[in-house]
Amino acid sequence: MTTPEIAPLHEDLTFHGPLSDERAARLIRGLQPLDGKHVLDVGCGWAEFLLRVLEAAPTATGTGVDLDATAIARAQANASSRGLAARVGLHVANVRQWQPEKPADVVIVNGATQAWGGDPLRHTANALAAVRKLLSPQGKLLLGEGFWEREPTAEQLAAMPIPRDQYGTVADLVDLAHEHGYRLLAVEQASLDEWDVFENGHGLAWERWLRDNPGSEHAGEIRAKADAQRTYRLRGWRGTLGLAYLTLQAP
Ligand SMILES: C[S@@+](CC[C@H](N)C(=O)[O-])C[C@H]1O[C@@H](n2cnc3c(N)ncnc32)[C@H](O)[C@@H]1O
Repeated sequence: MTTPEIAPLHEDLTFHGPLSDERAARLIRGLQPLDGKHVLDVGCGWAEFLLRVLEAAPTATGTGVDLDATAIARAQANASSRGLAARVGLHVANVRQWQPEKPADVVIVNGATQAWGGDPLRHTANALAAVRKLLSPQGKLLLGEGFWEREPTAEQLAAMPIPRDQYGTVADLVDLAHEHGYRLLAVEQASLDEWDVFENGHGLAWERWLRDNPGSEHAGEIRAKADAQRTYRLRGWRGTLGLAYLTLQAP
């Protein structure tokens, strides 16, 4: 919880990104065979995707790392209630300081290339390079990353906090992965419906809080956050920013 106490995102969302149950299941099938494999999810959030991987692969083990202690606490509770706690380690950590116990056969970086920090224009490249050091030879990377579905207009760029050159086309993204030594096994992208489900859930807790706390000293601050997010979405990225899911083979 933050101050004031706003419900965490996991109360309104299944995944912290535009991802349907159906697509998640297909992406997990693309990572098989996972028998006895170790799966690392960097920036795992509340680790719903990682837990589904482990449910689909009963002899696999997993590690999830995220800065967000509230999300990791939810991940641990879900792992326990679903009988997965013995097969998954969930850590509150900054991936830049975190040392893995062993190389991973599969790394997942879904909406989290920013975890390695630095210039936003270099986030994707930095992540592609960093993951090579976390992966076993011939491991796989599942990368969920932004791209421009269409060229953003000057008005859209002015309405959202994303530099034009942070992303290219989906072909540019795949080329970048190949420049880092990966081979593309599969690519797909989030639909507008998946984006809308995600964005609708993203704003709900703020709206509930504003409805329930009209006289709070924090109301102006929370309304400003909700309004900014709505502007980013509806005047900025909706229908223009894409999220591509790349399944990549490392050498
Ligand atoms: C958009 S969310 C995606 C969460 C998750 N992958 C999913 O799809 O549900 C990005 C996540 O990256 C995490 N993150 C950002 N920087 C990080 C860092 N330096 N180390 C670990 N996690 C980080 C955030 O806390 C957040 O949970």
